[in-house]
This record gives sequence, C-alpha cells and structure tokens, in this order.
Amino acid sequence: MHDESVTDFDPDETLSALPQTGEREVETSLRPRKLAEFVGQPRVREQLELVLESARRRGVPPDHVLLSGPPGLGKTSLAMIVAAELDAAIRITSGPALERAGDLAAMLSNLAEGDVLFIDEIHRIARPAEEMLYLAMEDFRVDVVVGKGPGATSIPLEIAPFTLVGATTRSGALTGPLRDRFGFTGQMEFYADDELDEVVTRAAKILGIEVDGRASAEIARRSRGTPRIANRLLRRVRDYAEVRADGRITYEVTRAALAVYDVDELGLDRLDRAVLSALVGSFGGGPVGISTLAVAVGEEATTVEEVCEPYLVRAGMLARTPRGRVATATAWEHLGLAPPPGYGRMDQPPLFD
Ligand SMILES: Nc1ncnc2c1ncn2[C@@H]1O[C@H](COP(=O)(O)OP(=O)(O)OP(=O)(O)O)[C@@H](O)[C@H]1O
Ligand SMILES: [Mg+2]
Repeated sequence: MHDESVTDFDPDETLSALPQTGEREVETSLRPRKLAEFVGQPRVREQLELVLESARRRGVPPDHVLLSGPPGLGKTSLAMIVAAELDAAIRITSGPALERAGDLAAMLSNLAEGDVLFIDEIHRIARPAEEMLYLAMEDFRVDVVVGKGPGATSIPLEIAPFTLVGATTRSGALTGPLRDRFGFTGQMEFYADDELDEVVTRAAKILGIEVDGRASAEIARRSRGTPRIANRLLRRVRDYAEVRADGRITYEVTRAALAVYDVDELGLDRLDRAVLSALVGSFGGGPVGISTLAVAVGEEATTVEEVCEPYLVRAGMLARTPRGRVATATAWEHLGLAPPPGYGRMDQPPLFD
C-alpha cells in the first residue's frame, strides 16, 4: 500500500512523532485490535487487564481510564482496545471539539449502558464542558441549563453508566478535579528497541513487506522509542528497497535508505537536534531555563517540554536540573563536539546539583 510517494518526502516530517497527512489510513490498518496484540507497555497492559477483567466479572462498566504520554505511543490504539475487550461500542470525540457544554451533553445523552466514550486531547476541553464532565463521570448525571439570565432553569438528566477513556500528551495540564475522577491512569513509556523491533516485524507482515532481522532491529533503534515513527520508517525504507533494490529490506538497504532520508543515527528529530544544538552552541551546555531554550529554537515551551524533552532525557542527552536544562556529555558527542574538560562530571557542581 503506497500511502505517500517518495517524491513528497520532507526530512523534517519523517521523524516527527505527530501523524502526517495521509497517514491515518495506514495507521488504522496497523492498529493492534486486542490487548494481546498490543506490543510493549507491559506495566500499563497488565494494570489495564486487571481493571477490565475485574469489571467484566462484576458485570459493571470499568472505572474511567486516563492514558497519558507523548505522541505516537499508542494511546488511541489502547482506547479502542478497551472498547474491543469489553465488547462495547466506542464513541470518539476530542477536547477541542467540546467547546460548548451542550456538545458534550448531546454526546453523553446518546450513550448506551456500557459504552466507551473516548475523549482525545482531553486537556484541551473547554471549562464549562469540563465541569459537566465531573458530574457525568461521578454520578452519571448532567445538569442541562435551559434559558438565560434569571429565568434559566437547570434540568437534571440521567445518563447511562459508561466508561470514559481520556487521552492526553499533557497530564500536567489537566485540572486536579478532572484527574481525580479517573479510576486508573496508564502512563505510557517510550518503547525499548526490542519492542519496536516487534512492532516493525508485525507491521511488515501486515503490509506484505519482506524485512530481515538485522534490518528491523536497525529501524527499531532509530525510531525514537515511538511505534508511529517505526511504522513510518519501515514504509520509507520499503520505498527505497522497491526503487533502488529488489524490494527486500536488508540491513544494507536500511542503512542506505535511512541515510537518504537524513535519519539521525539515534533517530533524533529536527526539534530534538535543534534543542541540543542551541543548548550546546548558544548556552555552553546549560543550565538554561525552558522558556529561553524554547525561544532559541522558535517553539512553544510546552512543545519542547512535552514532545521533545521526554525522549532526550530518556536517551541520556539532556538533564532537567533545578537551575535549568543541561546537555550531557553524550549530547556533545552526538553533535560531534568535544565537551569541555571535566564537563558534567558528578564531582563538578553546580551543573548537576
Ligand atoms: N503497542 C503497539 N503495538 C503495535 N503498534 C502500535 C502500538 N502502539 C502504537 N502502534 C502504532 O502506532 C500508530 C500510532 O499509535 P496511536 O495513534 O495509538 O498513538 P497515540 O498515542 O494516540 O498518538 P497521538 O498522541 O498523536 O494521538 C498506530 O497506528 C499503530 O499502528
Ligand atoms: Mg491518538
């Protein structure tokens, strides 16, 4: 399946954890349908399994579930799996779509008992809708206000017991009352290389692509801990293999293809590299405050903090200290630079205090 052609390739987007245009269809075909098919996230999977199984045994809808973590780690996939595992219908909406409380009231009153309501980007829900959601989550009831001014009346409306699944890339942006109403929060982590290898191998089978073990491992290693990127790199390497080789994906073909697409040895994306370069080039490695760093790379502070930093921290390139962000010696080396003598050693305060 050719969702995108080689010619409209943009190096900045190949490594983005965010979904790209035209990618939705192929993502749907690659989405795991059941918990057993879902690769990785052993902790979240086990916890969720317990929540679902216990609810099933008691014959009640499970507690509300919040899925939190960086883009492309499988939150939407998992939300759909929750519904599938419960044999329940799923209604899908998103925080930005729920601008007025009335939008949410309509959605809620259409739910049947046991339905799953999935709200993506739940941290972006408007305040009035959020307040309505509190009552709905807790008491399966909403108060619909009819009329305006002194004559306004509020009509209580029963709603069927349902399970809310919320997804967010910014659980910190959720208000306390909303967060507290979720019975279970699944914190999604970046995937290990061997898990991504499994994601790639599985996707290759579904797409009918022949890929050998060393090649899938190499794609996995450069996928920034993110299944969405792993699946995308697989498709780009497939393009290269079809045009420049015999269609089979070998280790050599993979390396050559990823070089063409300008994929970093570690899979860091444009923003990751910009942050590290600014940190090292303009601020001597830090420490520097997040807002200054964000201005230096021309991005929102929240984007740097939530999309970019988690992976850099995990990759051991960046440290968050009370005095600001610091590039580690590994980051200097990754940029092909030598860190100043003694840089970042533990006996060298104040860098890592
Ligand atoms: N555990 C997994 N096993 C196999 N494939 C996965 C897994 N997680 C994600 N994927 C693949 O990655 C793609 C992106 O996943 P998904 O859309 O669920 O991410 P997301 O966390 O909802 O991202 P966003 O924050 O951008 O909404 C899916 O289409 C799926 O093919
Ligand atoms: Mg999603």
